Amino acid sequence: MGNTVSKPLDQLRRCSVAVDVGSARTRVHIKDAGLLVDEPSVVAVNTFSGALMAVGTSAERMDGRTPGHIRVVRPVSNGTVVDIEMAQRMLRALVGSSVRRAWRRRGAMQRAAVTIPHNADPLARSAAIETLTGVGAKQVELVDTPTAAGVGCGLPVEQPEATMILVCGATTTQIAVLSLGAIVSATTVPMGGDTIHHAVVQHLRNHHELILPSQAVRPLHLALTGAGEGQTTEVWGRDVATGTARTVCINPDDVRAAIQAPLIGLSDAIRSVLHNCPPDLVADLADRGMVLAGGSALLPGLDERLRAGTGMPVHIADQPSLSAVNGLAAMVEGQVMPLNVDVH
Ligand SMILES: Nc1ncnc2c1ncn2[C@@H]1O[C@H](COP(=O)(O)OP(=O)(O)OP(=O)(O)O)[C@@H](O)[C@H]1O
Ligand SMILES: [Mg+2]
Repeated sequence: MGNTVSKPLDQLRRCSVAVDVGSARTRVHIKDAGLLVDEPSVVAVNTFSGALMAVGTSAERMDGRTPGHIRVVRPVSNGTVVDIEMAQRMLRALVGSSVRRAWRRRGAMQRAAVTIPHNADPLARSAAIETLTGVGAKQVELVDTPTAAGVGCGLPVEQPEATMILVCGATTTQIAVLSLGAIVSATTVPMGGDTIHHAVVQHLRNHHELILPSQAVRPLHLALTGAGEGQTTEVWGRDVATGTARTVCINPDDVRAAIQAPLIGLSDAIRSVLHNCPPDLVADLADRGMVLAGGSALLPGLDERLRAGTGMPVHIADQPSLSAVNGLAAMVEGQVMPLNVDVH
């Protein structure tokens, strides 16, 4: 883990807030108050005045429907803050008055714990720290997402036994084997719910000359499950050339073929993580299998695909999209007693 310094969990217990700023959603847990923010990581700004028009759900609803002077921004990409100023404005607005009250009760946000991709580079780390210090944190503790998600799934990450977790986010999946509170072997694959979404949209565009509205993609995800084999699904969209609305009948087999490549990459990456693990830990994992966390764990049929691709048991976490923030929350609330969780 390179320059990681192992510090006691006390460091995290002194935090008053646990934050998971994801590419798709931002979650904020305030100590003793609970999860008070779970909103899309989206900001809408007026490009003339620079004024904030909306954040979260209401900003997301504007996406694709805005007049020229309103810009919809996503300040987090691939799990990292890419626009610090916008991320700060988003956090300030999301942490609205009710949250701020809880926040003040805790004596301001002196210390904040934040999740960070396990392979985040120094730039990404300092962007996360700067974002939180910009909204009032005096001290920021970074915890890698797979460890936080593992704790959030109730996995015995602090034990001297292997657990495998996949954090299936919006555009990336982090695959990690944890033991004794630290990552033993890990990798990141550029595949998530949004990747599948784009592959489906691209397929419709290339093969049917149809631009699909985003709400029409979800039903096609069902093609992943293998359900309705041989049946066609009717979808409507806008013709690329004429701009008019029309419907086409889609064969689920074609959709499955379109999303094949990113899924194969996932099974290959799991094998490479196992390859880099000590044999004793691999033996633990053969029976125990892996747990899927992150919102994309809910992609229909993903678990089945991974079972078939790896031959290992696959379990989906309860409320997988909250695993990371819940795990970090358990750490700041002092509900976890690991020997040592790596705090960077
Ligand atoms: N019920 C569902 N079925 C299928 N996909 C889902 C479902 N719920 C959420 N997703 C997908 O999960 C992804 C978001 O997951 P999550 O909330 O874990 O992302 P994030 O933490 O914001 O992103 P990241 O960790 O990658 O920065 C989106 O791509 C979304 O489409
Ligand atoms: Mg996430």
